[in-house]
Amino acid sequence: MNPFHYGQIVKKADFCRRPELDRKLADSIKRGQNVYIQGERRTGKTSLICETIRKLKKNRMIYVDLLEVKSSDDFLKRIVTAIIDMEQSAGFVDRIFQKLSHIRPVASIDPITGLPTFSLDSSVELKPDSIPGVVDLISSYHSKTKPIVVVLDEFQDILNLKDAREALALLRSKVQFQSDTPYVFAGSIRNEMDRIFNDPGSAFFKSAVPIQVGPIDKDTFQKFIINRFKTGKRRITAESLNTVFAICFNIPGDIQQLCSALWDTTPYGDNISEEQIPMALEQIFAHELKGYETTLKIVTKQQLKLLTALARQGGKAPMSSGFLKDSGIVQASSVQRALNRLLGLRIVFHHENEYRFVNPFFRAWLLHKKL
Ligand SMILES: Nc1ncnc2c1ncn2[C@@H]1O[C@H](COP(=O)(O)OP(=O)(O)OP(=O)(O)O)[C@@H](O)[C@H]1O
Ligand SMILES: [Mg+2]
Repeated sequence: MNPFHYGQIVKKADFCRRPELDRKLADSIKRGQNVYIQGERRTGKTSLICETIRKLKKNRMIYVDLLEVKSSDDFLKRIVTAIIDMEQSAGFVDRIFQKLSHIRPVASIDPITGLPTFSLDSSVELKPDSIPGVVDLISSYHSKTKPIVVVLDEFQDILNLKDAREALALLRSKVQFQSDTPYVFAGSIRNEMDRIFNDPGSAFFKSAVPIQVGPIDKDTFQKFIINRFKTGKRRITAESLNTVFAICFNIPGDIQQLCSALWDTTPYGDNISEEQIPMALEQIFAHELKGYETTLKIVTKQQLKLLTALARQGGKAPMSSGFLKDSGIVQASSVQRALNRLLGLRIVFHHENEYRFVNPFFRAWLLHKKL
């Protein structure tokens, strides 16, 4: 069985240990200290949080995914649903009705599992002024013997709310008094997380300790990958592994995706060398082709010129004369305009003074197609 997993959180033996981050996060949680976890996409933020909390054993987690959250009603209902999930898994079904009566949970029987499930009455629209009540509700679940950790993942998307300022202010005013319930705020879009935690005008300014999640330590992760290949008696040469890491800019999720494709395209007992990487990439291209074609449809010719030059040259100096010459774009101001658009479309992002492709396989495909 393919031992590589991507596009989902990884747990237990599938989780490559990150002891330093794990310790930092666990210590904060034990102290009731709020933290915010920041890192690029697919670096392993959610897995780290879930794995750290799982290992703490004592703590129960209220996990709320705020990806694409649209309104205060949506925000609050996601929190309440997360509480319901936690209670349901602990078998405390009666308590849900007692404590949430004002939000009117609706019970029904899941036709497949036959178990009771709960949803919320959609005719009740929750406004930001319900935030304090819901935060109090969370704290009512917290106790010394069964401490709670609240995880608000993709927290930057709270800025999508029409009344984001009010929601943030109400949330902050309550959360700061819950000194024994730790909150973990996680997010991946740097500027937006910065707006929430590092802007003096924001209600959350300096309200949580930052933890940065970058690539996994290279040696540790390479050993982890080598051992995974060993489960199918495959060996991978050091050069090939370095090439895999370079193609993926060391991002764990992308490395696992490419290794998964390498596994699929090589036989049991194989010695994987660099020659096998193109075939694995082809498999990924075939899966992702529709997305690439959509991207090509929405960019202009000029933006495509820039993308292909970024693929060839990297994004450290896109205004330099060498870069302009290679790209065929005459003026630096045109590069800047095109870059802004590509940033807005989230095709590229800015990382430590460099523009990078959000999807490294799209970059590899552009190179492969020689567009
Ligand atoms: N500790 C780890 N060990 C092994 N693989 C990992 C680890 N952390 C992350 N990964 C790889 O990265 C993928 C994404 O992990 P995860 O969803 O935790 O990242 P994330 O940073 O929360 O991503 P996103 O920004 O998309 O929410 C996993 O499916 C796995 O392939
Ligand atoms: Mg995540």
